[in-house]
Amino acid sequence: MPTPPPSRSDLTPLLTAAREARFAAHAPYSGFHVGAAILTEDGHIVTGCNVENASYGLTICAERTAMVRTVAEGLGAPIAIAIASDSHLPTPPCGACRQFLAEFNPAMRVLYAGAEGEGIETTVDALLPGMFDAKQLPPSK
Ligand code: THU
Repeated sequence: MPTPPPSRSDLTPLLTAAREARFAAHAPYSGFHVGAAILTEDGHIVTGCNVENASYGLTICAERTAMVRTVAEGLGAPIAIAIASDSHLPTPPCGACRQFLAEFNPAMRVLYAGAEGEGIETTVDALLPGMFDAKQLPPSK
């Protein structure tokens, strides 16, 4: 039986973990600290932060850091992600991160927030209509 999605209130600890994770950010160029926390179907919470580089384009967002860690640890599918920054505005995932997250679960719940407040809840597929995915690829040989 598939795991039912957590209720809205269940994402509050995930947002707390995302807010905490932003303090590990390596963001000397933008000064913008972002944290993310992924909840997996097997109940793990995996955090990430943004990691910038002097070669600016190599920067990795907090969401992708958390997603890569989830895969590398061999954990279950991601069912929810919380994202938080220092901003007074909620910080939604950038386009690259939407695409990256969709690879693993387009139905993933997304709760994005700033430094305070309960945040805004949506899903990856709502944030990425008409996404490119494996269905567009030719059959593998
Ligand atoms: N950033 C994230 O980590 N996640 C987002 O959703 C938006 C942007 C980071 C990338 C960069 O280090 C800094 O925020 C400014 O763009």
